[in-house]
Amino acid sequence: MIKNSILILGTIGLFVFAMIGLTILPKVFIEPNVEKANVYVWGRAVEGHKVYVANGCVYCHSQQVRPKGYGADIERGWGRASVATDYKGLSPHQLGTMRTGPDLSNIGVRQPSRDWHLIHLYNPRAVVKESIMPPYPFLFEIVDAEKTQREGLKLPPEYQIPGKKVIPTEEADALVDYLLSLTQRDPIKPQQN
Ligand code: HEC
Repeated sequence: MIKNSILILGTIGLFVFAMIGLTILPKVFIEPNVEKANVYVWGRAVEGHKVYVANGCVYCHSQQVRPKGYGADIERGWGRASVATDYKGLSPHQLGTMRTGPDLSNIGVRQPSRDWHLIHLYNPRAVVKESIMPPYPFLFEIVDAEKTQREGLKLPPEYQIPGKKVIPTEEADALVDYLLSLTQRDPIKPQQN
């Protein structure tokens, strides 16, 4: 009988402990910060987030930097440790678990060039020789050079197609807007307006 009550009390205790730790404490300590935080992804970058999700970038890239003492993320230059407010405003969150490629939490700081990102998406090998990232040519259109006023990608000579221009689609432009918005800005700054 005593054994049974210990079992029941233990089970209830464990449940209450988990509930406090996983739902009540985060609500008290994290939610107020999240409410005050700015949303840093807007406009076309929101569309870009959808392209990121649709193309499964999360299968090779995380967006969560571990704090010091939990791995070498900071030393790798992937930014500061991630906090809850970094994920405000976008769903589904792209935290990821795989790191075939680098973490992208602060890629907008590490690589701020729009041209670089566009070329890299069209063909990663054009900018990173040894890259094993897959190319995303379907995010671009190959157009006769004389048929468009638009500027094509500034590809290295060996990747250029004679008489043609490689033009980013709306999706590619939006995806790069999203990548450039990933800058880990002030995590708990209240809205200023
Ligand atoms: C099969 C795995 C894989 C997938 C899927 C993948 N990547 Fe990558 N990515 C890599 C690898 C490996 C690298 C490192 C080599 C390089 O820079 O190309 C990389 C590098 C990058 C970089 C440069 C990171 C840096 O620190 O310089 C960006 C930006 C990037 N990927 C964006 C994307 C986006 C956006 C998608 C989805 C459209 C995507 N990746 C899909 C493997 C992948």
